[in-house]
Amino acid sequence: MRQVQIIGTGSYVPSKVLTNDDLAARMNTSDAWIFERTGIRTRHIAAPEEATSDLALAASLQALRMAKLEAGELEMVLVATVTPDMQTPACAVHLAHKLGAKKAFAFDIGAACAGSLFAMSVASQYIATGAVKNVLVVGAELLSRITNWEDRGSSILFGDGAGAMVLAPAEEPGRGLLALQLYSDGSAADILCIPGGGSRTPLTPESLAAQHHKVSMRGREVYKFAVTALVHAIERIVREHNLSLSEIQHVIAHQANVRILEAILERIGIPFEKAHINISRYGNTSSASVPLTLDEANRAGKLKREDLILVMAIGAGMSWGAGLIRW
Ligand code: UT7
Repeated sequence: MRQVQIIGTGSYVPSKVLTNDDLAARMNTSDAWIFERTGIRTRHIAAPEEATSDLALAASLQALRMAKLEAGELEMVLVATVTPDMQTPACAVHLAHKLGAKKAFAFDIGAACAGSLFAMSVASQYIATGAVKNVLVVGAELLSRITNWEDRGSSILFGDGAGAMVLAPAEEPGRGLLALQLYSDGSAADILCIPGGGSRTPLTPESLAAQHHKVSMRGREVYKFAVTALVHAIERIVREHNLSLSEIQHVIAHQANVRILEAILERIGIPFEKAHINISRYGNTSSASVPLTLDEANRAGKLKREDLILVMAIGAGMSWGAGLIRW
């Protein structure tokens, strides 16, 4: 089996910024409450004419440029998203068309905020077996369109954005994606979901009025689940790959809530300074979060050759995972 490496990264956030004070002007909340509970100060909101594939396109072009790859050379395009441009066809098909990735087959991955890890896992299997030579993996979300702006408990969290990665066979042994372990638990599906608009509860005037097509979340339960699940996932992956936690130089985590990340890292004993944090600027961008954070750290030159990176994410499903990358 071939080893798989990330050879290019890119990211994009829309230009419009929504501050905590902007939110406080429209609902009963405050900058102090939001920052204290989540670490968020601002989030970016897409323009009305932008769709998820537009955000994905901007991030992908950057990643392709870094990878020195033409879109026409791509063999596979994956988009992790809960906010595709339309119900069908997949966002990845729209993206591949916009890129001119004529050789690539394209499909979406649905694992909510953990989607980019699930997509990375699928992509790496295709490359490892030799089925394809490269994959564009994108996490892209336009969460402002599915946010229930009447719910102060969840609407303060979300932002729009995209992150992209180009995956290809590793050129040197020992470098690249060392491991990726994924988990799902559908018994917790109701603590974070969009209940309407699917086959269970099709859209009706009543369900629209009840905001069933928007995110519904029991935040406290998600928080507790996330900490327990990710602590277990990290401890297992490190143990099974005969590594020690002290060898990890960087933590690239889904930016759901900075308090969740603090709690996880404190429990497993990784210094918080090793985590790359951008949630104060972008909020929770779901599947975009991990590749966006990876791209920022990469472009800032913070990731050195052979550094060990821990990646982790959790979201609706619940779906979650942890991975190890030798940069
Ligand atoms: O990618 C995965 C997606 N989701 C998550 O990761 C979410 C995980 N959960 C969280 O981040 C936190 O649970 C939240 C930040 C969403 C909420 O924080 P919390 O400390 O769990 O607050 P809570 O829901 O337990 O509410 C505490 C109080 C309540 O008031 P009472 O009942 O104690 O009087 C809420 O009504 O805070 C109130 N509250 C707010 N107050 C001001 C809830 N939202 C707000 C708000 N501003 N925006």
